[in-house]
Amino acid sequence: MPIAKLIREGLERMEYRGYDSAGIALVNDGKIELRKKAGRIIDINKNGWLDSMSGQFGVGHTRWATHGRPVEFNSHPHLDCSGKIALVHNGIIENYQDLRKELIARGHNLKSDTDTEVFPHLIEEFIGKGFDLKDSVIETVKLCKGAYGVVVCHADTPEYMVVARKESPLIIGITPGETTYCGSDIPAFLPLTRKAIILDDDEVAVLYPGEVEIFKVKSGEKKKLDMMDVKYSMEAAQKVLDGKSYKWFMHKELHEVPRKIKEQIMMPQEDLDSFVKTILEAERIFITAAGTAFYAALAGKFLISNFGGPYVEAILCSEFIDTLPNMPENSVVIAVSQSGETADTIEAIRYAREKHGAKICSIVNVVGSSLTRYSDEVIITTAGLEIAVASQKAYCTQVSALTLIALRIAELKETYSVEEIKKFRDALLKTVDIAENILIEEGKIREIGEKISNETNIYFLARGISTSAALEGALKLKEIAYIHTEAYAAGESKHGPIALIEEGFPCIFIAPPDATYSRLIGNIMEMKSRGAKIISVVADFDENVTEISDYTIRIPIENNKYAIATSIVPFVLTLQLMAYFVSDFKGLDPDKPKNLAKSVTVK
Ligand code: F6R
Repeated sequence: MPIAKLIREGLERMEYRGYDSAGIALVNDGKIELRKKAGRIIDINKNGWLDSMSGQFGVGHTRWATHGRPVEFNSHPHLDCSGKIALVHNGIIENYQDLRKELIARGHNLKSDTDTEVFPHLIEEFIGKGFDLKDSVIETVKLCKGAYGVVVCHADTPEYMVVARKESPLIIGITPGETTYCGSDIPAFLPLTRKAIILDDDEVAVLYPGEVEIFKVKSGEKKKLDMMDVKYSMEAAQKVLDGKSYKWFMHKELHEVPRKIKEQIMMPQEDLDSFVKTILEAERIFITAAGTAFYAALAGKFLISNFGGPYVEAILCSEFIDTLPNMPENSVVIAVSQSGETADTIEAIRYAREKHGAKICSIVNVVGSSLTRYSDEVIITTAGLEIAVASQKAYCTQVSALTLIALRIAELKETYSVEEIKKFRDALLKTVDIAENILIEEGKIREIGEKISNETNIYFLARGISTSAALEGALKLKEIAYIHTEAYAAGESKHGPIALIEEGFPCIFIAPPDATYSRLIGNIMEMKSRGAKIISVVADFDENVTEISDYTIRIPIENNKYAIATSIVPFVLTLQLMAYFVSDFKGLDPDKPKNLAKSVTVK
């Protein structure tokens, strides 16, 4: 296959990481050919604009803007003055302003507003001083503070390319003896090879065709290669499930939830035990994450205490350092992440570990990701490749894993009898069938989705563990359907948010029949009596909330305390599905919401 097409297809598989501009640079007989533009790859490649490039090898990039607007001159790849070096970069160079000023003072002509552009110009200087490409990259990264995953090619050295990594993922794919690939995630080369090598922080690799050499930046020492087998199936990177085609990845991935949570719930007990032991040995337990993963973490906090376990403090990872300038000794931090690369999460756990000696227990979806490498204990979630930018099946596996942790703690602390623990576990396994039934009956959720699709403001309200569901429901609808939503603990609504309520203002209540139920009814009535339109997510057998609601979405759970205590995933799956239907109904792209990226590797 022509190299440009191969890189363009890889970029399309990576587009979920950022999609405001894209470009390719190819080395072609001692010259670099560069094409880049703002926009989605499919539009940029109209009439084969990218595919028709020719060259022997090269680099490509799809961008999520940090420094500099998403316009052509800020898009990657970036070149040096000679136009012989082409480079792509993920991450942020924190000292780029100083480096840039110095380069300009030395006569370099920088053309973009990006932090990235200092890289090719610094490399150019080292090459001018007689260093080869590899050593020039090593000397350059020594000058750069911050995070980077960079890939560099030089028109005069067509036999190899150089890549470097610090705190931003870089994975090398290899068909030994033939071809070498590289990307910030495995889908970049998924159809091309099943052998991968994960580059570690402060390492530089030289990529030859079918051969790789890795060096430590600080010592220059060569490292032994550690090759791993890629487990993802090709179907994971396509909008197809069980032979059925889906319009969007998000819809397909929501339909994977039953099998993915089943795998999680059936995970080997041994994999859970040392994780739980580490938690129970700690004096203080924190749980941290960002976005949807944080709402899974919040559910986990409630699950652990609802089942009689220790108090867990949930802190957003971006607030972690400022909330805990003096972290208590003997702490454990549970980190939850789909990508395992979220810079805020990594920063929080590195702070806890390096400054305060905390142990890190991670629940993470991507094998070999940075988070797994900085953790003492790891539970790998079973969601598999999640391509839709907004997390959904990953969330469901995270909460299933946290429920297992809570139940194991309850078992070890004997807060419930052996028989009761078994009943809770059986109920947890039944969530697989419940999720299946929700998906079979998804048309009912679509109907409610259509009803709310013209709204501009919606409140999501709940109590206790369901507050985490409300937060997730509100986030999902906000990010993929662009409706302004706010989620509150329902008891808080009367302390302010109620001021906005007027005739027809939509309020979505998450109302499982748990200990919060009768108090929640009070909150529903406060809203209803001021004219709010009440949409409730309730158990199938619900009567009281149904009676006071305009619409209900019914969750097919059994009427017993075991089913109720383990029902958070079915409730949230419903809200995620509803957000998906609203987005699709409005003609939006639920897979790639504007301004977002799947894995946010900048702080
Ligand atoms: C929202 C969403 C994000 C992520 C957050 C953390 O649908 O997907 O809020 O949950 O950026 O990402 P991970 O889980 O990769 O750490």
